[in-house]
Amino acid sequence: MQNFRFHNTTILDFGKGTIADLSALVPKDAKVLMTYGGGSIKKNGVYDQVKSALKDHQVIEFGGIEPNPHYETCMKAVALAKQEGITFLLSVGGGSTLDGTKFIAAAIPFAGDDPWDILAKGAPVVSALPVGCVLTLPATGSESNGFSVVSRMEPLQKLAFFSEQVYPRFSILDPETTFTLPSRQTANGVVDAFAHVLEQYLTYDVNAPLQDRQAEAVLLTLIEEGPKALANPTDYDARANVMWSATQALAGAIACGVPQDWATHMMGHELTALYGLDHAQTLAVVFPATMQHCRIAKKSKLLKYADRVWGIRGGSEDACIDAVIVKTEEFFRSLGVKTRLAEYGVTEGIERVGQRIEARGQKIGEHANLGRKDIDAILGLCAK
Ligand code: NZQ
Ligand code: ZN
Repeated sequence: MQNFRFHNTTILDFGKGTIADLSALVPKDAKVLMTYGGGSIKKNGVYDQVKSALKDHQVIEFGGIEPNPHYETCMKAVALAKQEGITFLLSVGGGSTLDGTKFIAAAIPFAGDDPWDILAKGAPVVSALPVGCVLTLPATGSESNGFSVVSRMEPLQKLAFFSEQVYPRFSILDPETTFTLPSRQTANGVVDAFAHVLEQYLTYDVNAPLQDRQAEAVLLTLIEEGPKALANPTDYDARANVMWSATQALAGAIACGVPQDWATHMMGHELTALYGLDHAQTLAVVFPATMQHCRIAKKSKLLKYADRVWGIRGGSEDACIDAVIVKTEEFFRSLGVKTRLAEYGVTEGIERVGQRIEARGQKIGEHANLGRKDIDAILGLCAK
């Protein structure tokens, strides 16, 4: 096992009715900026619950954070927060609202010239406003980590940063808030969480059996519970199990002491920036192709994944790996998420993905050895 330091500071407040806990979790003397997305929270009662819990707090609202949050929108919130003397940010919505809010939190006290440098140049985030979260879409794990992914329209980019300063102080996870998710978003959430586990599990063996089994537990739970949540959107137990699985997929525990990949995510972010595919759609396309292209480097973990998660064993190693790649793709498709670029109308200009990653000087994958040719080959495998 590799060395690691584990420190996750987010209080997770899970279950029915927990939005009411906001009154105690948000500091009494805070001047709160409540951020949200395109309005789903106003249709499903979440907005009213938040406002009621915060009736004795000072709250200003900022709505309109887009899926794949835009830098330009976030900077409007930064200006508003500075003008109003905001001291606390409360994100109410999905991963995009929360990621945007984390960036806003880091940009407000940023001492450099341009907060975009946090994303583009890795400028250090030495302080940030405190962030709280009411999560309505289980998918990203953003509710219990220090990552944020923000997109810019000009020049077209989708970039991530990490800072310990932007872990949410608390996240309220009430599975009932997810009853109103459209099936596309429910499926996206299951695929995203599944891919997060694979990025941390499908690498190479470092004799970390506990982390392997924790990862397998999350995968197996998603395989069992994801379809139930899709079939019956108001199945509380299925929603709760999916929500907790998605949080656990990217809250740090399964990453302890193991190598991590993230190549699929890097390629996926480019596909979203260039073609507007949903984040999870890009992962469903790219992951099976990454497994195929990297089947030798990932052999021992692919065989373990085949055996323990899908019960595929007994044939030749090659046959088991072939079968598990097919099984993974079938699972994504069974949720209604397409797995080929052409199915999303993406047929032209795919080589730009590799060009853009190369231009940033990035070598991706758990061995940091995937370059332009590998990316072209992977995207070729999932083209049609
Ligand atoms: O904007 P509103 O009106 O709220 O509608 C949203 C949005 O249209 C809707 N929605 C959310 N909760 C709902 C709901 N509709 C009905 N009922 C509810 N309860 O769902 C749509 C998608 O929301 P979004 O927040 O964009 O989805 P998600 O949570 O999947 O977030 C995706 C973003 O997170 C980034 C992705 O790249 C993408 O930008 N990621 C963040 C990560 C992190 N911070 O750790 C890691 C991930 O790998 C990922 O990159
Ligand atoms: Zn993801």
